[in-house]
Amino acid sequence: MKVGYGWILLLSAARAFWIPSTLHNPSCRLTSSLSVRSSSSTSLLANNAGVYIHIPFCRRRCRYCDFAIVPVGSEDRTGFTQLNDQYTTALLHEITHHTSLNNNHTISSIYFGGGTPSLVPVSTLQAILEKLYGRFNVAPDCEISIEMDPGTFDFAKATALRDMGFNRVSLGVQSFNDTILESLGRIHRKNDVMNALKILQDVWGNDLNYSMDLISGLPGLSVAEWVHTLENVMHLQLRPNHLSLYDLQVEPGTVFGRWYSDSMINSISSSPVTTLPLPSDEEASFMYKYASGFLRYYGYDHYEVSSYATPGHQSQHNQVYWAVDGEWYAFGLGATSHINGQLAARPRTMADYLKWVYEPTVSLPSTNSFQDRLLDIVLKRLRTKEGLCLPWIGETFGSNYQNAIRRGAELGVELALAQLDEERGILTLTDPHGLLFSNSIISTIFAELETLPEWSTLKENETTLCG
Ligand SMILES: *[C@@H]1O[C@H](CO)[C@@H](O)[C@H](O)[C@H]1NC(C)=O
Ligand SMILES: *[C@@H]1O[C@H](CO)[C@@H](O)[C@H](O)[C@H]1NC(C)=O
Ligand SMILES: *[C@@H]1O[C@H](CO)[C@@H](O)[C@H](O)[C@H]1NC(C)=O
Ligand SMILES: *[C@@H]1O[C@H](CO)[C@@H](O)[C@H](O)[C@H]1NC(C)=O
Repeated sequence: MKVGYGWILLLSAARAFWIPSTLHNPSCRLTSSLSVRSSSSTSLLANNAGVYIHIPFCRRRCRYCDFAIVPVGSEDRTGFTQLNDQYTTALLHEITHHTSLNNNHTISSIYFGGGTPSLVPVSTLQAILEKLYGRFNVAPDCEISIEMDPGTFDFAKATALRDMGFNRVSLGVQSFNDTILESLGRIHRKNDVMNALKILQDVWGNDLNYSMDLISGLPGLSVAEWVHTLENVMHLQLRPNHLSLYDLQVEPGTVFGRWYSDSMINSISSSPVTTLPLPSDEEASFMYKYASGFLRYYGYDHYEVSSYATPGHQSQHNQVYWAVDGEWYAFGLGATSHINGQLAARPRTMADYLKWVYEPTVSLPSTNSFQDRLLDIVLKRLRTKEGLCLPWIGETFGSNYQNAIRRGAELGVELALAQLDEERGILTLTDPHGLLFSNSIISTIFAELETLPEWSTLKENETTLCG
């Protein structure tokens, strides 16, 4: 359902969880708790982990979506009931049999993402939650989030979700404009959004922790209308205390990829619905920058490239994701877990997933080489407001890597897209310009790392280097 994760494919289906103390530590001294996982000694929170559950079903695939989802048409059809039962059985089987549990983990966040988790029956969600409670040590104040789409739930369903423990909602709004929603292939309209908000407020009350997803750079979206959208959101009765703003990425393999690829741009009349024009790059950039300034004015902290929160309402499930040593379990189609330093991606098609669940001999692809780990950390940390701690890189990976990162960042610093706090040794991207160009800056740093003579020879030694 979310967009904009193309840069981090492996992690794209796993969004998880706690706030490591290091994210709040203003200094990145090596004595800080920013430890590597293998030196399991330090951080008090080191034993916290998150859980991600993937519910892949959607009524239909949105035209920009390249996620691991399964379009089902109407959820009232018996075909859907069977498919959902089959999937849920497999998911419960996976939770029971497939995890090498670290019993010292306390689960501080559970996140149901998709797909459209609010589409499946309450009994399905209940069975999964009960299984998790039976299998894991879940903290009493665990954040339990669910992605919900307008038009897929009513008062009774939302009440049932609240009663079973969901205490945070991520509402997939994307746009308030019916023409644009239709062109995206969304099933909901502005009216459904307003109804959904009313239900959330009636069920959870005004203090509900909820996030709203919006997309900028959409076909048909003008700068003026984006400004108007943000203003509308600020004037909602139930104003979100968290916002996820994605800049539309036209991904190959999606309907939009076909409609809006460069070669097709002049033959869009072949599409079956009215094709709205994409905003120019300048307009899309302006939307991003405008949102950053506008939301800062309204008290939101821009804590990650696409994420904004009022004080105290950063998404815990996102935080573990951006931490260097965050750990999360993940279950379901296409979901990626990160446990004991191992990233593992589950199969992205239903047939492959079911086969894998019941045939444990098939092992998951996992990427745990030295290079992958370093690139992953650079990429993740530079997306956050807290940034990348260079002395820590030097200590953990070697000073040559720290130096390469510095060289790779030089141009960005010169252009005021990046900032290097020499005293604390922290490299950050500037808000909004650096964050807007994060992909280019990160690529330049990657290129610099890859030119190191030791980079290509590392592969043979990766097991020793990674411990
Ligand atoms: C759990 O913690 C105990 C004591 O802190 C430790 O001895 C044990 O190795 C840990 N177990 C795992 C699976 O990490
Ligand atoms: C919202 O989140 C904050 C911070 O995590 C928490 O203290 C508060 O209890 C939550 N509110 C509700 C209604 O769950
Ligand atoms: C919605 O977007 C369409 C397409 O860009 C535009 O023509 C229309 O004026 C917008 N509607 C509203 C209510 O802003
Ligand atoms: C890799 O291992 C070989 C032999 O064990 C060693 O000579 C070489 O220096 C190692 N390379 C790195 C980058 O550590």
